[in-house]
Amino acid sequence: NANAPCDLMLFGALGDLAQRKLFPALYQLERAGLLAQGSRILAIARTKATTADVREQLFEKLRYHVKDSEFDAGVANAFLQRVDYLLLDFTDPEGYGALREWRDEPNNELIVYMATPPSMYGVIARNMKATSCCNEKTRVVVEKPIGHDLESSRVINDELGEVYHENQLFRIDHYLGKETVQNLIALRFANNLFASQWDQNHISHVEITVAESVGIEGRWGYFDQAGQIRDMIQNHLLQLLCLMAMDPPADLSADSIRDEKVKVLKALKRITPDMMDRYVVRGQYTAGTSNGKPVPGYLEEEDANKGSATETFVALKAEIDNWRWSGVPFYIRTGKRLPEKLSQIIIHFKPAPHYIFDPDQKHLANNKLIIRLQPDEGMALKILTKDQGLDKGMRLRQGPLELTFSETFEAERIPDAYERLLWEVMKGNQYLFVRRDEVEYAWRWVDEIIANWRDSGEPPKRYAAGTWGPVASIAMITRDGRSWYEDA
Ligand code: BG6
Repeated sequence: NANAPCDLMLFGALGDLAQRKLFPALYQLERAGLLAQGSRILAIARTKATTADVREQLFEKLRYHVKDSEFDAGVANAFLQRVDYLLLDFTDPEGYGALREWRDEPNNELIVYMATPPSMYGVIARNMKATSCCNEKTRVVVEKPIGHDLESSRVINDELGEVYHENQLFRIDHYLGKETVQNLIALRFANNLFASQWDQNHISHVEITVAESVGIEGRWGYFDQAGQIRDMIQNHLLQLLCLMAMDPPADLSADSIRDEKVKVLKALKRITPDMMDRYVVRGQYTAGTSNGKPVPGYLEEEDANKGSATETFVALKAEIDNWRWSGVPFYIRTGKRLPEKLSQIIIHFKPAPHYIFDPDQKHLANNKLIIRLQPDEGMALKILTKDQGLDKGMRLRQGPLELTFSETFEAERIPDAYERLLWEVMKGNQYLFVRRDEVEYAWRWVDEIIANWRDSGEPPKRYAAGTWGPVASIAMITRDGRSWYEDA
């Protein structure tokens, strides 16, 4: 019951994620009246501070991270009354007694959020169990990265699995909390118009682009170990691919949806060494410009290791070996320091079987569905019409049927992904969270690509900051007689 009060224990409460995303999201739930009376938050970290200090610090952070038009000091103060602070060495079981003592109402739902490095998940879980701080109803939220490959993800999942059942674990992929990403499910399964067209008979190929204009933003230490394939492809991009490609689930329950996603991951064609040249491009940005300003290259960022071969860009061609998608490539690209922040999916439908119009316009003769995930959330269906005018004959013109969410659904604010995700955890609904087998199948596929890179020893291809990645990523799609979609 979402309106039942809950106790939220937040490990890593003074870290970047908690301060930038989690507290602002909880504040928004407060503002929307969704936090039940009696719900409380225990902020846990290793810094010496008092509850009063932490509340004061959080007030300032909220003021900074929440939009001015959505910040209300009264609501912030009321929210902060729910927050207590506990100094804890996560590795020391002795300290965990304080967690139990903090709980006034042992019947409140207990949510444990581990906003810590994954190496801490097992330690926290074991200590919680050893000190009877949790039980089989406790909900546990963990963040990516779940490991850096299949093997290490198994270790982490095993450690969590020793203490919690799968139905207690809420693995976050924040893309699943984005309204527009959830909308993919509505688009596909509420509109029979699309459902009947969603396969290799009607679709020629699909593009998924998740571009960012930011660089590494002081996260070099983490990022250099991960690279764009582990940071973005293994999780966010593969989740988008699954939502686009999965078969219709029988219902909206967590396992119905996740079963279908897993089938897609299992059907991904392995990318073997002989395919790498044609299927994968990895890039690293050099100095260039971002929003008109000069910016350094990846190897010149603060704390950079000058010899790093870590990729900041990946383009690849994924193929799904099943009945529905045989012969339909999914071209995927994602990178840092690209010209703009833009996430979009483009479905290219096949042309009509028999073409009767101007031969010069044949390249126009396919419909496209453009799904804009961010920014300017919405979608456009590019359809073909007759060009207006007596002199135009039967010349064709492509125009959009357009749905821009901010215009059509005017008053509605698009909640941040973490608001949705925290709200679903409170309701105990796992459908927006990633199941263990999804994580593992995704790693299995990605690991092989990483191993191929390692074995070939080939360095990433360079691209200047502010461009759309290495030219090889354009060549990859051009070779198939296609091009990355550009809105003209
Ligand atoms: C995170 C990655 O998971 O997603 C970051 O670690 C990336 O590197 C971020 O910048 C992108 O998320 P969003 O919501 O801004 O698209």
